[in-house]
Amino acid sequence: MSEPMACSTRSTPDRAEPVALLSRLSHPDEVAGIFAGSGLLAHDARRLGEARLRTRCGRSLPFSATRWHAPAAREEIEVLEEVIGPVVDLACGPGRLVRHLMGRGVPALGVDAAPDAVAAATRRGVPALLGDLWGALPREGSWQTALLFDGNIGIGARPGDLLARCGRLLAPGGRLLAEVGGPGTLSITADARIEWGGWRSGWFPWATVSVDDLPEVASVAGLEVAGVRQLAGRTFARLVRAPRAPSPLPAAVAA
Ligand SMILES: C[S@@+](CC[C@H](N)C(=O)[O-])C[C@H]1O[C@@H](n2cnc3c(N)ncnc32)[C@H](O)[C@@H]1O
Repeated sequence: MSEPMACSTRSTPDRAEPVALLSRLSHPDEVAGIFAGSGLLAHDARRLGEARLRTRCGRSLPFSATRWHAPAAREEIEVLEEVIGPVVDLACGPGRLVRHLMGRGVPALGVDAAPDAVAAATRRGVPALLGDLWGALPREGSWQTALLFDGNIGIGARPGDLLARCGRLLAPGGRLLAEVGGPGTLSITADARIEWGGWRSGWFPWATVSVDDLPEVASVAGLEVAGVRQLAGRTFARLVRAPRAPSPLPAAVAA
């Protein structure tokens, strides 16, 4: 793992330290390897209890492995009403969102870099691809919907880059549904680790994005916030490609 990342609570996390953050590319052998090493993604992890994500700055965030293994929650089902297929669920874990969509007849694919997660999804009959969301994925530029639920916007601690990555996966007119921090929460960029009972993972780069900062982070990525919903204490945003700024008329035409 790379050198410690200072905790940052600035409003545009990945523009605050662009050079430092670019050197911390998320890689399956790092972040996803840590997830896989935790055992939280294994199909029987529910029996083992809840984990926390602790940042070096001392913040402790819920990290619900129980949720990953449960069926989609009511509020998630409500947000998933907004999808248009085909859907790609980025960092899908054991695949509960794809499973729900399949039940509705919506074509969907999960992608996760942790073999445990893909194995758990496959075990449930959920189509899931073992892959790094930063790497090449099938149907780039033709997904109608991409999903980033349950803190996944923090993967790699470069939310602007991650939103831009999602934008490139989408078809023209496609949408990204992303879970973000609620109003009044801080956007944090920090080293974090998983704590689960007495077990501690290594530190890895993570971020949170407050809905208050989302328009600015999205605009860096060429996206704009088309809607925000707060359901069951969680905040979900719908993002679409930002219209290109109109080019100025040539002087002769403008005159
Ligand atoms: C919070 S869990 C997933 C929860 C899932 N979205 C859900 O709502 O049930 C985070 C997941 O991100 C995956 N992950 C982390 N880095 C990744 C990467 N670069 N590419 C793909 N998956 C990644 C981990 O393997 C883990 O399964």
